[in-house]
Amino acid sequence: MTKARGASSRARSWTGSRGLPKVSHGTGIYVYDTSGKRYLDASGGPAVYCLGHGHPEVTAAIVRQLERIAHGYRYTFTSDPLEQLREIVTRACAGPDGARSTGDPARRLDSMVFVCDGSEAVESALKVALQYHSARGEMTRRRFIARRRSWHGNTLGALGVSDFLDRRAPFEGALVDASFLPQVSMYRPPAGVAPGSLGAHAAAELEAEILRVGPERVAAFIFEPVVGAAGGALPPPPGYAQRVREICSRHGVLLIADEVMCGSGRTGTWRALEQDAVVPDIMAVAKGLAGGYQPLGATIYSHAIAEVLEAADGGPLTGHTFSGHTAACAAGVAVQTIVARDRLLERVASAGARFQTALREALGRYEAVGDVRGRGFLIGIELVADRATRAPFPPERALAETIGSCAFEDGLICYAAGGNLDGVAGDIILLAPPYIATDAELEEIIARFARAVERGLGKRAGG
Ligand SMILES: Cc1ncc(COP(=O)(O)O)c(C=O)c1O
Repeated sequence: MTKARGASSRARSWTGSRGLPKVSHGTGIYVYDTSGKRYLDASGGPAVYCLGHGHPEVTAAIVRQLERIAHGYRYTFTSDPLEQLREIVTRACAGPDGARSTGDPARRLDSMVFVCDGSEAVESALKVALQYHSARGEMTRRRFIARRRSWHGNTLGALGVSDFLDRRAPFEGALVDASFLPQVSMYRPPAGVAPGSLGAHAAAELEAEILRVGPERVAAFIFEPVVGAAGGALPPPPGYAQRVREICSRHGVLLIADEVMCGSGRTGTWRALEQDAVVPDIMAVAKGLAGGYQPLGATIYSHAIAEVLEAADGGPLTGHTFSGHTAACAAGVAVQTIVARDRLLERVASAGARFQTALREALGRYEAVGDVRGRGFLIGIELVADRATRAPFPPERALAETIGSCAFEDGLICYAAGGNLDGVAGDIILLAPPYIATDAELEEIIARFARAVERGLGKRAGG
């Protein structure tokens, strides 16, 4: 008889489906439950709520749009919100320097499919890559290369390129064909690799795998430019992304940037990879695109890819009934207009750097805090049992979840995750405040988070 899968080796979900408080409403960076308890949302939920809650301009824009039409089906109509959002996203992808930062016009990220969430955005990114190679007669290019400890989503394709042990386990055997390279962490470079050479080392791993598989069989390399929940806000080592770009171009392998969490301005530039001076062929965004006001994501791809898809098939063969939903696009237009008008990316870049430094100072006294890292308003705190060896806590202790739980009891929402090292061991906590968080609110987050760390460390396993 086949052995049944056991329960996960660690208590994974401190906010499991039972016993959750009922949400009532939110205003700014605060959320209230129906008992009247107030929570400071230090992670913007799962790194989503970039404008906080109850933004009157966004809700008004959605209502105005809904008063006009329930939904304009994409094969029958286009719409003002959809076209406006396409323009806004194209401009945002080009960066503050406009077309210059994307260099070659064929590389311009000016084509896109709007979807409903991050998993769909990644799923469509994989499909666009496969369709592109098929259209060019390269049907052998079917395999994806990804990194261990990265998360790309819960649909079968996106799950197939993800490495989140518990979430994959029940579906093994039915996932897409993918190679996994080791995680790239400046906090944990492989033995014998100096931190300064990590970018080159990690890029060389990719090239070696492309050559091992055979370039003619590889469709794309997918990665999170700043690894979110699975890595704990791990930024790329210097030079890594650029080398990856060169290697992919050299072997005809498409480069997919999963910016579902780190994109839409969360790291202080609209595209996280803008800071590495790299333009991918395909990019997935979602969370911050409409800031949680409506379900919205996008698969964005280059002009060159669009031309190939249009010539072969008339366009991308992906998307669903609600793709490009008019009210969701209206939410995206409103959110992105406010982000640009209120210069929130500049705010995230400058306040994010100060926030990270202040957090590092406030948490330095806890031996268990091994690393504080990230970009902009995407910050990861990695907890270790031993600072010198960087050894993790035993997974049974579920320390990240315990600290997350202490914070939640105290009315502070943060994003705790375990298993960032090998799927089982490792404890990280993400802080991803809304872009509108004031300096005073950021200070309050630091003080309350430090209190939660103190309380969590004081609790014994299972206590
Ligand atoms: C990097 C990344 N990609 C994809 C996804 C999947 O997005 P969603 O949960 O909206 O489907 C997530 C979700 O956390 C993510 O962080």
